[in-house]
Amino acid sequence: MWVQSLYLRSFRNYEEQEVSFHPGVNVLIGENAQGKTNALEAIHLLAVGKSHRTHRDADLVRRGADGATVRAVIHAGGRQRTLELRLGSGGRRALVNGVQQAKMTDFLGHFQAVLFSPEDLLLVKGGPALRRRFLDMELGQTQPAYLYHLGHYQRALQQRNALLRRVPVDEASLEVFDAQLAEHGAQVLRRRMRFLADLAPIAADIYATIADGRETLDVRYASTLPQFGDDGGGGTTLEATAEAEVGTLAEVLLRALRVRRAGDIRLGTTTIGPHRDDLRLTLDGIPAHSFASQGQQRTIALSLRLAEMEFIRRQTGEYPVLLLDDVLSELDDGRQKNLVLAMSEKVQTVLTTTSLFPLTGRLREVARLFSVCSGIIQAEG
Ligand SMILES: Nc1ncnc2c1ncn2[C@@H]1O[C@H](COP(=O)(O)OP(=O)(O)O)[C@@H](O)[C@H]1O
Ligand SMILES: [Mg+2]
Repeated sequence: MWVQSLYLRSFRNYEEQEVSFHPGVNVLIGENAQGKTNALEAIHLLAVGKSHRTHRDADLVRRGADGATVRAVIHAGGRQRTLELRLGSGGRRALVNGVQQAKMTDFLGHFQAVLFSPEDLLLVKGGPALRRRFLDMELGQTQPAYLYHLGHYQRALQQRNALLRRVPVDEASLEVFDAQLAEHGAQVLRRRMRFLADLAPIAADIYATIADGRETLDVRYASTLPQFGDDGGGGTTLEATAEAEVGTLAEVLLRALRVRRAGDIRLGTTTIGPHRDDLRLTLDGIPAHSFASQGQQRTIALSLRLAEMEFIRRQTGEYPVLLLDDVLSELDDGRQKNLVLAMSEKVQTVLTTTSLFPLTGRLREVARLFSVCSGIIQAEG
């Protein structure tokens, strides 16, 4: 899988820019605030449908312009496609080979990319919302149906929460939204659990390689549903939950929503369900969030990203495009760096850096260089 060319119009600090990439390693080099991350963000946006930095499309549109275009020619599954997103105040338009798609879920799934950035550390250190975002982004780009159910779940959630804040509470309407939450929430839960059942052993293996077996990484889905959580005591194992049928999960979710109803009415919000769930990351059983060293946390984040690469390869038969935003200089540990470099030899890589210093050995020989300055990308040499 690779990106042959990228065209940007009025995207972030780009006015109009076209760039052709090499199927191997591409290095975007430039000072700070020139547009390096913006270029990776654009590629990632075509894969995931969301920016990794903002929820608002308006942030992506060049200040003063009324719309932005991101277009790329990509090769995947033995086919060449042109993917294009047009962002503007009137909403989004998504085109595949020039044909407008009715839904974003029809646009996604053609192309995958995994982005490594210094903020990945927040996957370990940050709050649950960031880890849910990780799940949503990864599942969204390999399974568009996931986004369909997540969207319906979130809409039902907003409506239920609005009802909970209105006195007296309309219990008949709550029933309707509970049913919708259970239906779509079960789909979201099942896909997340399966994803983690696949991802966890891969991440653990990668972690063991980097840490040389010093400690063991465990990744689990921590659900707010008492039957499936690991915080209520007697929680079932990840393996068991990954096997749970959608129907069973929907019943469990529906029952839990009813049990919590009185409490939810008191608090004015829905306190249970996938929107409150988390990933539990532990080293030898101890929560990494509060006890792991900075180096261990970095290794965990890296293991999760590299595991994503493998997961996508297993799902689609091809590795995704690897986007490395300013990370090589941060990888002080030789093993961490070697694993990332080994991956960059197998897949198309676009990486950003402020200096050539972190590029060593073979990488420096094979890399195609591009300078990035004030929103202009130029191939070097
Ligand atoms: N919507 C926008 N319109 C115009 N400029 C923008 C917009 N969003 C970000 N920028 C500019 O892009 C630059 C940052 O680009 P970025 O790719 O993050 O830099 P870096 O090269 O350090 O990775 C900043 O100068 C910022 O002001
Ligand atoms: Mg940057």
